Amino acid sequence: MLPGPTNVPERVMRSMITPMINHRSDDFVELYEDAVEKTKKVFRTDGEAVCLSASGTGAVEASVINLIKKGDKVIIPVNGEFSGRLSQMLEWAGANVIKLETAPGTNAAFDDVKAAFDNNKDVKAFYCVWNETSTGTMINYLDRIKDLTARNDSYYVVDGVSIVGGEELYVDKWGIDVCMTGAQKAFAAPPGISPIVVNKRAKKYMIENPPNTMYFNLSRYFKYYEEAKHTPFTPALPLLYAYREALSMILEEGLDARIRRHRICSQALYSGLSAIGLTPFAKEDARSTVVVALNYLEGLEDKKFRNTLAEKFRVLVAGGFGNLKGKVFRVGCMGEVNKYHVMRTISAISSTLDMMGYKTNPDALRVAEEKLKPL
Ligand SMILES: Cc1ncc(COP(=O)(O)O)c(C=O)c1O
Repeated sequence: MLPGPTNVPERVMRSMITPMINHRSDDFVELYEDAVEKTKKVFRTDGEAVCLSASGTGAVEASVINLIKKGDKVIIPVNGEFSGRLSQMLEWAGANVIKLETAPGTNAAFDDVKAAFDNNKDVKAFYCVWNETSTGTMINYLDRIKDLTARNDSYYVVDGVSIVGGEELYVDKWGIDVCMTGAQKAFAAPPGISPIVVNKRAKKYMIENPPNTMYFNLSRYFKYYEEAKHTPFTPALPLLYAYREALSMILEEGLDARIRRHRICSQALYSGLSAIGLTPFAKEDARSTVVVALNYLEGLEDKKFRNTLAEKFRVLVAGGFGNLKGKVFRVGCMGEVNKYHVMRTISAISSTLDMMGYKTNPDALRVAEEKLKPL
């Protein structure tokens, strides 16, 4: 129940046990083209998709170095570890970064984003971390940003690393120019492949203004794909097999059904864990449907709690980041998550708390079960 890497289905694991192929062969073309086309379906885009052999940070960094030049003005909401890292990358790229900082657990209001656009007519791009994994918050106005970026042709870039495939996303319809994720999160694939999708307009810019770097220079990936459906560098072949298989499973389930499942499971987790007496860290209107962050009860020791949960009940949850270390723990609700995982997690957390001397509520499981009924 980590917010990544998440559980990987047997079928996906097995797909990796295959002889190495030549990445300049027809076998590779069949594999990679299929992975690219399926990626586009999941992001709901007709643009380009590049499946980078890298962790999510690689794809995020690629979005920065291929689009941002010294002196460019960029707006970005910052409310936790990952949006902080992204704004740092933007600064390192030489951007003039306008940070819309809010307290962890909250999101910048849409009106504040709008005001930032009103006050900065020359903004080159809007960047955001859709799901701030470190605090369990999720921006829920992605579909409204297009009206702002359209005003002066600025770019719209979304770090969707911990959420794409688990929540509703329409890259083309919502006017998103660049978006990326990591395979180890809601796609339920092993870590190591991170797709980035780029629309026509952003692609043109990247080709005309390539960065002085080699590995994450996206114009190279576009060129190799256009010429031969290859990647410029040796890809992580076994991981690509797994990635393609995970995408097949996503599309077999159907995106709408998958999103519904994630939403129902997270509602059950919020309700069941609240019934035990735990409180969600994120404010209600900012709560993520894929990462459930909870405040520790008074005196509850992080390490002891998570170790007991892991050793006695074989349930893994994550701790907090930075100054939230020891104050919150995070339950991933991604990928393969289903009724079984939700019920087992709530029951394990409840038993652990009980063992550590806290009073719990036997009704918690019934509360969660009720929420899970539509599944
Ligand atoms: C929102 C977000 N962005 C970026 C990253 C970085 O991904 P990775 O650890 O795969 O490099 C993460 C990882 O959890 C994330 O949640």
